[in-house]
Order: sequence, then C-alpha cells, then structure tokens
Amino acid sequence: MTGASGAHEDALLGEVLAAFADAPDRRLATLITRLVEHLHAYAREVELTAAERRTAIDFLTAVGQVSGPARQEFEMLSDVLGVSSLVETMGSADEATLQTLTGPFYVPGAPERAFGESMVERSGGGTPAVLEGRVTGADGEPIAGAVLDVWQNAENQLYAVQDPDQPEGNLRGRYLTRDDGRYEIRTIRPVPYRIPEDGPVGALLRQTNRHPWRAAHIHMIVTHPDYVRLTTEVFDADSDYLDSDAVFGVAPELVRSFAEERGTLRTRFDIVLAADRARAAR
Ligand SMILES: [Fe+2]
Repeated sequence: MTGASGAHEDALLGEVLAAFADAPDRRLATLITRLVEHLHAYAREVELTAAERRTAIDFLTAVGQVSGPARQEFEMLSDVLGVSSLVETMGSADEATLQTLTGPFYVPGAPERAFGESMVERSGGGTPAVLEGRVTGADGEPIAGAVLDVWQNAENQLYAVQDPDQPEGNLRGRYLTRDDGRYEIRTIRPVPYRIPEDGPVGALLRQTNRHPWRAAHIHMIVTHPDYVRLTTEVFDADSDYLDSDAVFGVAPELVRSFAEERGTLRTRFDIVLAADRARAAR
C-alpha cells in the first residue's frame, strides 16, 4: 500500500502498539506488540480481505469447538504449521538430546512401571519390541532416578486416549532409570498413523494437498530434579513418512533401527539431559 492509505495503516499500527505499551509484564508486552506488528504486516502484504478475515475467525472458532481434554485440535494446528517443532528445537540445550514436540496425545498420570516391564495392557497384536538405553548428563555421568514418561500408539494406529477399546494405561508408562542410568521398556513396534482428519485441521490439510501421516515413533518426557526436562521422540528407521512427517517432528539424530537380538526386536536410544543451571545456582 502506498500514499494516504499506507500512512493511515502506519498510524493505526502505532495506535495499537501504544495501547499495549504499558503492560506491566514486560515479556507479555514484547510478545503482544511483536505479534501485532507481524499480523499487521501480514494483512498488508497479502492484502487480506474482510471475507478472508471472517473465514480465518470461523476456522479458529471451529478449532476451539472440537477441542477438549481428549482432543487437542489447537495443539495439532500448531503442529501442522511447524510452530511446535520450531519452538521445541529452539528450546533444545546444545549438549542435550534434541527436544521435539509433545503432540496432542500426551496424558499425564501414566502407570508407574518397573525396569523391563511391558506397557502392553491389551494383547491386540503388534510386533513385540524392546526400547532400552541410558540416561546421562552431558559429561556421560549416569543419571539414576530419572523418570521416563512414555507413550505410543497401538497396532490399530490409535493412542489409548483416542480409543475406547484400549485400557487407559495401554502403551503408556513411567519408568525410572537404575543406578547405572539404564532403562528398559517392553512394548510393541510403533506404526505410522494419521493425525485426526475429521476436524478443521484435517480440512486444511486436504485443501492444501497435504497428507496426514506421521512416521512411526515412541514419545517420551524425561525428568529429573537436577536436569532440564526433555520431551523427545524415537523414530523407527524402517518407517514410511520419515521424509514427510505431517508435523515436522523427524530429525536424523532421533531415528533408530530395530534389530532382532535374542529372539526379540530391540532398539537402543541413549538420552543426554542438560544440567539445570538455574537450580544448581540456588
Ligand atoms: Fe505421536
């Protein structure tokens, strides 16, 4: 836009920014004023019409309306736009295992499980597999008593939270590392799955010629009081969609091969946590 119209748009932006300038929380002031600047620049660049703004509002309204405790459509929207992956990767400590998105299917309160215990609570098929490894600090020191909160999908592609036929704790578990930092999880091999397509985010994918598949993976959140919390995923090297994961979660350093050993498929995923310096300083 040029001339008088551009001057008016600049003045409007200035007014809006000034309206937010006194926010006592300075971080909030930064977040909101930079958002306003980018939104205004976007609307001007694409010459957004009133009808398109209305469509966007209707879309976001629909995303909110299908969201609830068991359906996190907003989380999924952030995921398919690549924003979740961007933010998690930016938040990764250099020395630690790469951080990835949580996704919409994490539910707190998974059952506590012993070293090597199976998290399969329903015998519905699937290929038995073991995920094992060590949790260490950046210097290689083993971390005992770290909690691995693990969740994955079943052979029918669904997570327990999506599937009334699975026990609530199926393919979920909280595992503690031993004194040597080791953990071991009995499970089944994860399979690729389609993110839910029956809502507005699915419609967006169809309209933009995108497929809804995620490469096969196991999620985990690793915590210990002295270390920075880590959310990550392990991907199956033989899975489809490693190159076109619908939520942009795959990174080469998180891909592992399953190999048969002593009659069982096993894969090893060692995890490095960053020391929590803020805590150490207290
Ligand atoms: Fe997932």
